[in-house]
Amino acid sequence: MFGAIFLVGWSLCALVIYSLISSFVRRRQHARLARQLGCEPPPILPTGFLGIRRAITMMKAQQKRQLQDAFLNERNAMQKMGKPCNTLKVEFLNQTLMVTYDPKNVQALLATQFKDFALGPIRFGGFYPLLGTGIFSTDGSAWEHSRTMLRPQFARSQVEDTAVEEYHLQNFMQALQVGPDGCADVEDIQTLFFRLTMDSATEMLFGESLDTQLSEMPGATVSMTRNGLRERDFAAAFDKAQYIISEGFRLNELYWIYQGRELKNACKNVHDFADYFVKRALNQEFGEKRTIEDGKKEKYVFLEALAADIRDPRKLRDELLSILTAGRDTTAALLGYLWYSLAKDPVRYTKLRQTAIDHFGTYQHPKPITFTGLKNCAYLQYCMNETLRLFPVVPLNSRRAVRDTSIPVGGGADGKSPVFVPKDTEVNYYVHVMHRMKEIWGPDVEDWKPERFENRKSGWEYLPFNGGPRICLGQQSALTKAGYTTVRLLQRFERVEPVDLEPQLRHKVTLTSRLYPGLHLRLFEASG
Ligand code: HEM
Repeated sequence: MFGAIFLVGWSLCALVIYSLISSFVRRRQHARLARQLGCEPPPILPTGFLGIRRAITMMKAQQKRQLQDAFLNERNAMQKMGKPCNTLKVEFLNQTLMVTYDPKNVQALLATQFKDFALGPIRFGGFYPLLGTGIFSTDGSAWEHSRTMLRPQFARSQVEDTAVEEYHLQNFMQALQVGPDGCADVEDIQTLFFRLTMDSATEMLFGESLDTQLSEMPGATVSMTRNGLRERDFAAAFDKAQYIISEGFRLNELYWIYQGRELKNACKNVHDFADYFVKRALNQEFGEKRTIEDGKKEKYVFLEALAADIRDPRKLRDELLSILTAGRDTTAALLGYLWYSLAKDPVRYTKLRQTAIDHFGTYQHPKPITFTGLKNCAYLQYCMNETLRLFPVVPLNSRRAVRDTSIPVGGGADGKSPVFVPKDTEVNYYVHVMHRMKEIWGPDVEDWKPERFENRKSGWEYLPFNGGPRICLGQQSALTKAGYTTVRLLQRFERVEPVDLEPQLRHKVTLTSRLYPGLHLRLFEASG
């Protein structure tokens, strides 16, 4: 007995000594490498003992729905102390991370040093229960393979199917009931945007829309059940799984703490529902094409097109759900923020409405609204760009060093020297903060001013869709959908008023950001 205790004691001692020595050796190696690379240390963000004070601040900010402001405050506080403030070292529990808002460093993470950084195990492990090995969470050759398979599906022709858009738009318009005073009082238009994008995304991806807009109408009887699960339960399970995963990410390495029974159940429901469509696509004859109601045009179904190349049902489901995750909330959130901004700015609302009518006619007598037409409508594009600057729907993101490396700036007293980044360090980059830096955008940085995009050629300081080899695949699709919806709304309503706006904007941040609690609008119908 005594011998066993003695042995365990010695083993523990040996382990501690080994850890201390290897940590000492690693530090010396890092210091030598940092010197060779000309690196200087970055400022350290004061975060209290073990970073607990910062963790509490962030938790409170999240509860108050003001996480983005908390990130801005951190930078402002460093600036007030007269320190370089664009790249910071942060201690959290026993982890050291980096935070950067510097466009040069972000460019290094995403493009010029792409091979030095990956999404890493937190992103993979966090998403695994829901997305398996889909494009949104893998690295290396698995990611390359997914990207090669998926990219052709985003070709321009697939972005141009506005007949499908119009069908779902009409269902959305039905939810905007105009009263005898000519006004639609819409308690939360953002929720309707989420239903719209869910409906059109599932039509494009699964080949069949969930039609949540119709099933949520008062007295509706429409309901779809697949593998014993109703569409409403699928949508709720999908939202719940995303929410739990995003909470886990805030704990960095400890993300798995959130992966309990609740997440398991939500993922099971999502998978059961999606498997119905996967099975159907795999059973479909190659070359068998479907047609939309008018019988003239081929209906494009993402899943069926993908099933021609991917025959493994699990892999097919992973990619399907990855695209749904990437594409649905983002586009709806953009619409929410855009209509929030327009509602607060009647002069620009009128300007954009006139532009839309000049390009695309009136609501009752529209001209074709095509991908190219929307792209050429410059002021509409500026409005969407400016919305994504002020309210990037992916406000924070991260990459992990896969080897000892450096990022170009942020070190030393002037913040101009490279910074050493040891292997396995998470580097967080906050696009929200970068998009609100006065040094880049000028003193009116906090104002929604679409005109600032006139003749502007954006670089790495403007990054709503990411950049480099992992740039968003759905950028054109998102801007087309958001542009189309906006034009149709502008055509129908000549004026819009916000109702009960809070003095300070709040955000619900999960994997993406959206308005919180929603957006109450009064929309006044035009006569023509
Ligand atoms: C306003 C709308 C959108 C915004 C702001 C947006 C933004 C982004 C961002 C920031 C990323 C990079 C994520 C990362 O690597 O960490 C991304 C990736 C991606 N997005 Fe989007 N997105 C939007 C809409 C869409 C849509 C509609 C789709 C598809 C239908 C889509 C598909 C993808 C895919 C597949 C990736 C992964 C690319 C890769 O890792 O290679 N996105 N998006």
